[in-house]
Amino acid sequence: MKKSLGAKTYLYPAPVLVIGTYDEKGKPNIAPVSWAGICCSDPPCIAISMRKATYTYKNIMLKKTFTISIPSEKYITQTDYIGMVSGKNVDKFAKTKLTPVKSEYVDAPYVEEFPVVIECELYHTIELGLHTQFVGKVINVRADESLVDNEGALDIKKINPLIFTPDTYAYYGVGDYLCQAFSKGESLK
Ligand SMILES: Cc1cc2nc3c(=O)[nH]c(=O)nc-3n(C[C@H](O)[C@H](O)[C@H](O)COP(=O)(O)O)c2cc1C
Repeated sequence: MKKSLGAKTYLYPAPVLVIGTYDEKGKPNIAPVSWAGICCSDPPCIAISMRKATYTYKNIMLKKTFTISIPSEKYITQTDYIGMVSGKNVDKFAKTKLTPVKSEYVDAPYVEEFPVVIECELYHTIELGLHTQFVGKVINVRADESLVDNEGALDIKKINPLIFTPDTYAYYGVGDYLCQAFSKGESLK
């Protein structure tokens, strides 16, 4: 028997992505988001949802671009901190000692220390309510060379990304490899 829990955004797992933007003076800023995910393969798009009260919201509206840096587990403290304070009041790069790098393809900074970076142009803006969804068209992905295999795929175990639970607001790490998709189901065809 299942218990009814009401209208909640209980979706598992949620990613932890760090959004990089510049303000009108060119100050780089970063903030984590978990209300986010892949939303189209062609053109390649990723959607993130921001509250209007955030500095990141204002910067994206201004510049129409952003980066997504994927933090690995070892940056959990810095990632949590940048979600607790606003770029309105704090230079988060200076405080965390993370390194801002100007993106090659878009007018936004990314985090040098994080293993994977996705450069996005704002493609759609969707007013949803408390959050505004920004659909970013992926212009380029860059990753630490040591993570990339011969086919250009990345090793999730080496990225070691953080996972977020939307009900308990907790961080988790990645679990075990199980099998390839579109393979196991063959036995039931
Ligand atoms: C793990 C985590 C996930 C978060 N996800 C979101 C999100 O999806 N959308 C959002 O608006 N804020 C989210 N926040 C809160 C913002 O990161 C926070 O308000 C931050 O201070 C905004 O910074 P800014 O004002 O410099 O943009 C999250 C915070 C944490 C720690």
